[in-house]
Amino acid sequence: MPSIVPRVPGLCYGGDYNPEQWPESVWREDVALMREARVNLVTVGVFGWAWLEPEEQRYEFGRLDRILDLLHDGGIRVDLATATASPPPWFSTAYPLSLPVDADGRRLRHGSRQAICASSPDYLAAALRLVEQLATRYRDHPALAMWHVNNEYGCHNARCYCDTSAAAFRTWLQRRYGDLDGLNDAWTTSFWSQRYTAWEQVLPPLPTPATGNPTQALDFRRFSSDAQLAMFVAERDLLHALSPGVPVTTNLMAGLHTDQDYWNWAREMTGPDLLISNDHYVLGEDDIPPAAQIAYAADLTRSLSGGSPWLLMEHSPSAVNWQRRNLAKPGGRMILDSLGHVARGSDGAMFFQWRASRGGSEKWHSAMVPHAGTDSSVWRDVVALGTGLAALAEIDGSTVTPTVAILLDYASCWAQEGESQPSVDMDAFAEVRRWHHALWRAGIVADFARPEADLSAYRLVVVPSLYLIGDAGAANLGAYAAEGGHVLVGAYSGIVDECDRVRLGGYPGALRDLLGVRVEEFFPLAAGRSVALAGGSPLGAYGLVWAEFGRATTATVVTTFADGPTAGSPALTVNTVGAGGRAWYLGTRLAPDPLVSLLSTVAASAGAEPVLPDRPDGVEAVRRTRPDGSAYLFVLNHSDVDATVRAAGTDLLTGAVWTDSGVVSAGGAVVLREAR
Ligand code: GLA
Repeated sequence: MPSIVPRVPGLCYGGDYNPEQWPESVWREDVALMREARVNLVTVGVFGWAWLEPEEQRYEFGRLDRILDLLHDGGIRVDLATATASPPPWFSTAYPLSLPVDADGRRLRHGSRQAICASSPDYLAAALRLVEQLATRYRDHPALAMWHVNNEYGCHNARCYCDTSAAAFRTWLQRRYGDLDGLNDAWTTSFWSQRYTAWEQVLPPLPTPATGNPTQALDFRRFSSDAQLAMFVAERDLLHALSPGVPVTTNLMAGLHTDQDYWNWAREMTGPDLLISNDHYVLGEDDIPPAAQIAYAADLTRSLSGGSPWLLMEHSPSAVNWQRRNLAKPGGRMILDSLGHVARGSDGAMFFQWRASRGGSEKWHSAMVPHAGTDSSVWRDVVALGTGLAALAEIDGSTVTPTVAILLDYASCWAQEGESQPSVDMDAFAEVRRWHHALWRAGIVADFARPEADLSAYRLVVVPSLYLIGDAGAANLGAYAAEGGHVLVGAYSGIVDECDRVRLGGYPGALRDLLGVRVEEFFPLAAGRSVALAGGSPLGAYGLVWAEFGRATTATVVTTFADGPTAGSPALTVNTVGAGGRAWYLGTRLAPDPLVSLLSTVAASAGAEPVLPDRPDGVEAVRRTRPDGSAYLFVLNHSDVDATVRAAGTDLLTGAVWTDSGVVSAGGAVVLREAR
């Protein structure tokens, strides 16, 4: 199988390279240092628009020619950016309507980046002109390995509320609902006299005196994600037409940003001459530890890639600059972070950025070449990582195949994030992260899937929070269980249809029969309160955030609520379905430790095992395999003590042979080629 970037055999290593920030005299040193660190791929010119097109349609490619030649002479391949992420000031001055407008009606200005309305025809035309120039000039350049479209779509401009966007929103709605009757029905405009009688009355969800229409808000989020995606598709199609055979990607932010429906993006980013790439930055002050944050992003990206290898396009060598407190990584941590992504399917490790900027708003962001230069711990780690990734070349193309899937649906989370919900504490994306973290702590590697996906490869499907579900998704989950699959569903799932209309007859609506439970009324808890669970509960003593009043219809009750208005109602149930299927339902939320025990118990009963059942605390294990039987076991020690691990094979990083066990040093990693 060819590498994901066929012109870069083995694993990709490098980062964003912004030569326009430096005099040409620095470029030679850059290339020499890249060679020293065994860098084989750099992303050139992500923010180079003003450099390449200093005035409208006057292009200056001399410097880009020279840097690409220099990189080529150094044996370094190029992920060439289309440079469309940050239009220059001349552009927004000439086309002020291309600037985005926020929900309060303020038009944002240039002087930063991504000052773009996603529906602007002027922006699209200018961007495609630049792409055409770049594609025709560089498609045959020997350094070119792939195309990098734009940058982190929607990072700063996910939704635009200008008149152009409003018109595009109406067109999108016309396509979705056909006519105004369809729209009025879908949006329940019979409520509060909101009935529309002409399309021009339909607006983005602008500020209103009272709570707005929830389906209008939800559809605007769907539309806004589609509008961003359309910009990518336009560039992608032009590149495929002008530069056939060269892979195209754009860097997603799976695991950090939640404004794009990345399942829809994945559809447009997989297939011939396409690859999924992702950026990830650790949140220094978060309830979930860095290694588990990385695992979440990597598992999600791999799932977007349909299980195939993907590319970590950006992460940070040490601190970032955009958090409130930007925590630096201690020596060695960067290597472990990179391997965390590689373990979960990335065929490389790329960084933002190559050389630390002297000025500009990211001057306090770490880089592979720090301000201190090469006499630095960061640089020594950069060189060590380059050596390590070269030693791992043979894992290129191997895959991770979990037996557990976590259902994630963006529109469902968006709907649940809307106004006037039963409890502000019932967060959706955060609950998905908590369940993933609990599985991570249990040593179980999981994929993510959308509700309509083929689930047949999994022994267990968990559904942390799926407020909105379409009929097809609900039927799919039911069929999966009927065929013997195991399901664990969290509270407040299956509640509304795709238009955010309640499914009547008792909660959890679409999943009521599957779960064998009928809930009459929700009893969310007051801030900071908990609800007692019946004695000896496998869930621990308390439920958090949520309780509900109902009964089991066909399910067996495992645990009930033990106090308050829902005392006696089921808190955990299990229903037997079809040919050995089981459908568990948790009608509350759990603290981290009981959630780990519940998921471990349910996974064990489904036959979904941890990768290494007897791992020491703080040790992460993931296996990559290939159809020919090769297997590579990544063992990452996140603890601060050396860990003895039972496993056998040859460590690709050091050559050490483990016959039945070995020691992974504190903060260290091994990658064992296991015997076939
Ligand atoms: C994102 C962007 C980069 C840079 C980094 C900083 O990933 O793509 O250009 O701003 O964030 O962490």
